[in-house]
Amino acid sequence: MRIAVVGTGYVGLVTGACLAEFGMFVTCVDIDKKKIDMLNNGEIPIYEPGLDVIVEKNSKAGRLKFTTDVAQAVKDNLVIFIAVGTPPKEDGSADLTYVENVARDIAKNMNGYKVVVNKSTVPVGTGQRVKKIIKEIVGDKFRFDVVSNPEFLREGAAVNDFMRPDRIVIGAESDEAVAIMKDIYSAHYLGEAPFVVTNIETAEMIKYASNAFLALKITFINEIANLCDLVGADVHKVAKAMGMDGRISPKFLHPGPGYGGSCFPKDTLALCNIAKEYGYNIKVVDAAIEANERQKLLMVDKILGLLGKEKKEGSLKDVNITILGLAFKPNTDDMRESPSIVIINELLKYGAKIKAFDPIAMENAKSIFGDSIEYSKDEYSAVEGADCLVIVTEWNQFRKLDMEKIKSLMRNHNLADLRNIYEPKKMREIGFNYVCVGRSK
Ligand code: UGA
Repeated sequence: MRIAVVGTGYVGLVTGACLAEFGMFVTCVDIDKKKIDMLNNGEIPIYEPGLDVIVEKNSKAGRLKFTTDVAQAVKDNLVIFIAVGTPPKEDGSADLTYVENVARDIAKNMNGYKVVVNKSTVPVGTGQRVKKIIKEIVGDKFRFDVVSNPEFLREGAAVNDFMRPDRIVIGAESDEAVAIMKDIYSAHYLGEAPFVVTNIETAEMIKYASNAFLALKITFINEIANLCDLVGADVHKVAKAMGMDGRISPKFLHPGPGYGGSCFPKDTLALCNIAKEYGYNIKVVDAAIEANERQKLLMVDKILGLLGKEKKEGSLKDVNITILGLAFKPNTDDMRESPSIVIINELLKYGAKIKAFDPIAMENAKSIFGDSIEYSKDEYSAVEGADCLVIVTEWNQFRKLDMEKIKSLMRNHNLADLRNIYEPKKMREIGFNYVCVGRSK
């Protein structure tokens, strides 16, 4: 099986490397020469656990190649995955310029039957658009199929998610294309893989519905957590008992400062936009977007409350705040839509002096905050002289800090644990003035 993957971003690179790991011959293509040069030198442009090992191994074995030559890649391969970015436009709708450009490149270089697979998260209807673009150029000269095969990879766990998918969605219009896709993915399993075969539009909708549902689930538990704080309930016990109901399941019920990342914020907005285009208001998703924005700001209120400060300009003047964790979640250097951005910018607005530490995302954070905050080399130097410690991302290395030592390094002993990684009772016994999300009383 010969495969080309166009776009060596997060999804493209993981997909290409993992397919090569399963023994297929994969050519990864990108217009960014710098990126391709890096990859050809064995450097990985993103941080993703386990990816470096399989890229190196499969490159050495000759199963994984990187090139900027899209024309050749189209000519040489039967299956072409489109895995380029679909960034949000000003109005929240997805920008399909890159996808459409790839469709044109494919059409111009076709030399036989091709399966064109949309892996990027694209609005419902994009598969048909890609088909139209190719058809307009190719006419009846060559046969081709367009397939929607959405990815469900989580950053930080993408390699594992690719190797052990819960389901593989194939949206296609011909048996031939379905058979080829099944052939590619059956490498994952000794028995029958969990395929869901459907039409293109349904496959496209499955991706949005799944991400929006997960965003709703997180938002729901965040709202319950906020209420728990008010009534004196413990959200951990609430989530645990809720999750024991098989219909609910315990996953994605961890309250926190709001969801971030490159997917949920973008995809929930895009889904609302798709609905609007059809004259429909998908109210529940709109509400989740609004609640998620509020959640980040509520975290700032929590910190002000902990410090006994008013919500007004300058109220945090001379207050030293330490932020542990900047990435939108652990095991990634990704800062996109991270709650830390809103929280830090708000705290700066109130006049706070901020010191921050993140194990991996610090370089990316510097391009966002510049020198408006100070960057520390580790957790302990970050808290020196602090009046308040705020844990924003639950990196494992933050879970078992020497809290007595942390306390002794701080000037005042306020702790806002926005990921609930510490036991409230224990923290109060140590002498912290402690708040978290949904078990603060
Ligand atoms: C998400 C989906 O989980 C993937 O299935 C999907 O393929 C991907 O988007 C995508 O569309 O490409 P990802 O954004 O990498 O993956 O990260 P998640 O692990 O889903 O976390 C998203 C956000 O939700 C993070 O900010 C995280 O901290 C937050 N979250 C997650 C919570 O606050 N509570 C939870 O219980 C779970």
